Amino acid sequence: MGLKVSQQIERIPTGIEGLDTNLHGGLPQGSITLVSGTPGTGKTIVCFQYIFTGLKQNEKCLYLASDERVGNLLRQAKELGFDFQPYIDQGLLTFKYLDLDRGDIHRDIEEDIRTGGYHRVVLDSLTPVSEMPVWMVNKGNEIIPSKDTFATSSFPLGSSEATRIHVRRLMSILSNDMTTTLVTSEIPEGSRTLSRDSVSEFLADGILILDLDTTMDRRKLTVRKMRGTRHSLKPRDIQIGFGGIKLL
Ligand SMILES: Nc1ncnc2c1ncn2[C@@H]1O[C@H](COP(=O)(O)OP(=O)(O)O)[C@@H](O)[C@H]1O
Ligand SMILES: [Mg+2]
Repeated sequence: MGLKVSQQIERIPTGIEGLDTNLHGGLPQGSITLVSGTPGTGKTIVCFQYIFTGLKQNEKCLYLASDERVGNLLRQAKELGFDFQPYIDQGLLTFKYLDLDRGDIHRDIEEDIRTGGYHRVVLDSLTPVSEMPVWMVNKGNEIIPSKDTFATSSFPLGSSEATRIHVRRLMSILSNDMTTTLVTSEIPEGSRTLSRDSVSEFLADGILILDLDTTMDRRKLTVRKMRGTRHSLKPRDIQIGFGGIKLL
């Protein structure tokens, strides 16, 4: 016990050296960080590294996958030196494929987050989830896949209003004091927004941006925003290889 007057936010290391230094130890505990970038910029690899870092510290982790099948992800991870299988066998890590054609994924995720006691959660990727056609029923209290229902809806399928409510609901389900979350978001080539849904960037506590400079054959990582943290905004050169991402 004793008098502990420290107001400091608990930090959750990402495992990416240099990034953690820039963030004074890591992501704020309980925060949601958007990992944003065009295809192939390393978003999934950031997630692998983040989860693996937690597992090595014996933390319970959940990986929600929506755009790639679990078997595929596990193979890619292993190739980079992240062997998740022993942790899955041991019950420390859960990999879950979100089947967007089936049922109420909000309820699915909510149940997992509420009862799982996870320290680290990844949603990779938010994009197909946010683009899933939905109907809002009961004044938006329920969100259901559009093709399975004839229910009257408050918003037309795929409207920006529906997307906004849908994404806001997801972010609120993911937000939990004990859980520190990474959400990947695909941005179209050449886009100036930070996410394709253009809502999640306002709801996230932090934003990491991954970039490719193909002519220079260079990759970059930028901390664009991080709640409660003084950090450099400078894009840093990174390299992808065995062990994941390294700042150069
Ligand atoms: N073993 C590896 N060694 C070096 N680079 C790799 C390796 N595996 C993947 N990459 C690079 O990472 C990219 C994929 O990263 P990924 O995190 O899947 O991208 P995103 O999720 O942003 O689409 C590949 O296109 C490739 O350039
Ligand atoms: Mg990916």
